[in-house]
Amino acid sequence: MTGLTRRQFGGVVGVAGVAGSGLFLGGFPGILRTGNGALVRSTATLPAAYTLPFRVPPVAAGTMHADGSLRYDVEQRTTDIEILPGLRTRMLTYAGSFPGVTLTSRSGRPTVVTVRNSLTVPTATHLHGGHTPADSDGYPTDLVLPPGMPGPPLVPGMPTDPAARVSSGRRDHTYPMRQRAATLWYHDHSMGATARTVWHGLAGFHLVHDDEEEALGLPSGERDLPVMICDRAFAEDGSLLYPPVLAEHNDMPMVPEGYRDGVLGDVTLVNGVPWPVLEAPAVRHRLRILNAANARTYWLALSPPPAGGGGFVQVGSDGGLLETPNARDVLHIAPVERVDVVVDLGRYQPGDVVDVVNELDTGTMRAVMRFRVGQRAADPSRVPDRLAIIERLDPAKAVARRSFQFRKSRSHGQWTINGGAFDPARVDAGTALGALEVWSFTSDVAHPVHLHLDPFQVVARGAPGRLAPTDLGWKDTVALRPSETVELAVRFTDYAGRYVFHCHNLEHEDMAMMANLVTS
Ligand code: C2O
Ligand code: CU
Ligand code: CU
Repeated sequence: MTGLTRRQFGGVVGVAGVAGSGLFLGGFPGILRTGNGALVRSTATLPAAYTLPFRVPPVAAGTMHADGSLRYDVEQRTTDIEILPGLRTRMLTYAGSFPGVTLTSRSGRPTVVTVRNSLTVPTATHLHGGHTPADSDGYPTDLVLPPGMPGPPLVPGMPTDPAARVSSGRRDHTYPMRQRAATLWYHDHSMGATARTVWHGLAGFHLVHDDEEEALGLPSGERDLPVMICDRAFAEDGSLLYPPVLAEHNDMPMVPEGYRDGVLGDVTLVNGVPWPVLEAPAVRHRLRILNAANARTYWLALSPPPAGGGGFVQVGSDGGLLETPNARDVLHIAPVERVDVVVDLGRYQPGDVVDVVNELDTGTMRAVMRFRVGQRAADPSRVPDRLAIIERLDPAKAVARRSFQFRKSRSHGQWTINGGAFDPARVDAGTALGALEVWSFTSDVAHPVHLHLDPFQVVARGAPGRLAPTDLGWKDTVALRPSETVELAVRFTDYAGRYVFHCHNLEHEDMAMMANLVTS
């Protein structure tokens, strides 16, 4: 089997564009319509919604090492996967599946993940939400080359990086896991190519567990479900469609003009399955929802809602448990936010059909997944009124303030932070470990902004103390709406080195909306 060549990888045909409109609706509460982008239309025959069974990604078996660490060995390889019935989709995978194998870790116990690159493209593996030493964080130029590929590779239009730590064939990533239980995920972060590699499959869950969370009695085992939602588009032969990436400004690889706001697909995948259906007993289930789309925002609702409403009981966000559960009718989820919810199917009748829908869309793209409610069953789970204690970061005690403008450059199509395109050699934020800072972000259009190394707390949207529902708890990504200023309190700890922060709309990220955070 040959891998995707670089040419195939970029040279996609049959793309029909529909310009995305700025769909933002102003006002509160909770308006986070950030899904700007343009749609790629599938030419493949698509299955009807709610016909394919829901499944959970395979869970990797780790091994305990004599030094007390948990070890995983993950091979990145090109794999043909049946996503659409009867067709094979050639994907870039972690260990042969999409989503990649689920890794699990224990808070306080180091995990070492060896990633071996058997693809034809360089990769950099990042643990999103990980509190990780810099040399294991998957910095965009810290590439792992396929064996035999001469390196370091040049990314056209991107400055070369003398500090890059390039390796051949494999790399060990050490995660000390000095962090609380949370729904993390891992994905490719290679410079200038992340939107394509993730679109083609390089994403998987990494769940961190701890005693505090396990003591609560939340739904567990088969009733604790990772739910990765993303959109993709497929050609007639089953291959993934992605707009052609052309060298443009300064030879920088860019998608065509119409797609620079973000690439959207017309197939919703939940754990890699188009619009699946899950038969589940009429009991509480925990859904660890991750929006893994390149650019699409979801407003998820239950249809029909349970009598009395509040069908989604949010218990966690990006960085783990909230202080208290929060009953919600709609979950606004920008790219890469995680929303951990408990849904009690016991509020429905056996035989009921309950859909999870995206209120931001109509037609097939309104559909996400379906529950077919089964029999009543014993349910030992509970959702306690107090979930966790969260230390408040007090913005009044900040020792430094920084502000960053997230804007499209007027002169050419690049996305910029404070007017600059990403440059590995420039320090955009040099911070002292342990110092409390307030960072303020201002947007033109919507941008989901993500910080590496440590989670933060949103402290203001426009006005101090004014937050959206998805701002609660420890966050690693904040959804900036158009023309908005958001402030967050952050304190970087433990690890000195060079990290990035960036817009996590992956097309924006690749087209240079990324900056350096250097801690010392
Ligand atoms: Cu999800 Cu910079 O990463
Ligand atoms: Cu990250
Ligand atoms: Cu952006």
